[in-house]
Amino acid sequence: MKRIAVYPGSFDPVTNGHIDMIKRGRRLFDKIVVAILCNSSKKAFFTIEERKTMLEISLEEVTNIEIASFDGLLVDYVVKRKANAILRGMRAVSDFEYEFQMALMNRSLNRNIQTVFLMSGLRWIFTSSSIIKEAARYNGDISNMVHPFVEKKLKEKFGFSNP
Ligand code: PNS
Repeated sequence: MKRIAVYPGSFDPVTNGHIDMIKRGRRLFDKIVVAILCNSSKKAFFTIEERKTMLEISLEEVTNIEIASFDGLLVDYVVKRKANAILRGMRAVSDFEYEFQMALMNRSLNRNIQTVFLMSGLRWIFTSSSIIKEAARYNGDISNMVHPFVEKKLKEKFGFSNP
């Protein structure tokens, strides 16, 4: 049996913390479906297409992954993809309550799906898409937190790109 995990998220944009999580998840699973949530209640900064391209370029060297998008309940999507697990990363303690709530909700919706948590790498504990966007908005140096292509896209969006 192939072990397939869905790694869901907003990826707005993908960070080096996400990449680290996917690479480490690949050691546990045969395949990882990186799934971008389409209709989030959060207002997205990048379009789904832009986020997909950034993920594809950032994950160029990683094998056995697929970048996809989904709508509706995550557990339904996991079943649709014939996966057996949801992969999530846990950073500082502040992530715990939200992640615990989500894992319990998903478990009550479908008991056959396991949520697997990996601790974030120490380097990425304080890295998040929102804090990176905040720094990029004021032209802060975020080069060690995202792929160079994502850095370029952020610069373009905030009007700091060279002509
Ligand atoms: O990167 P994020 O924004 O923390 O990811 C949140 C995500 C996409 C994993 C979560 O919002 C989700 O799974 N949404 C799909 C709707 C759903 O299944 N909700 C019930 C479980 S809380």
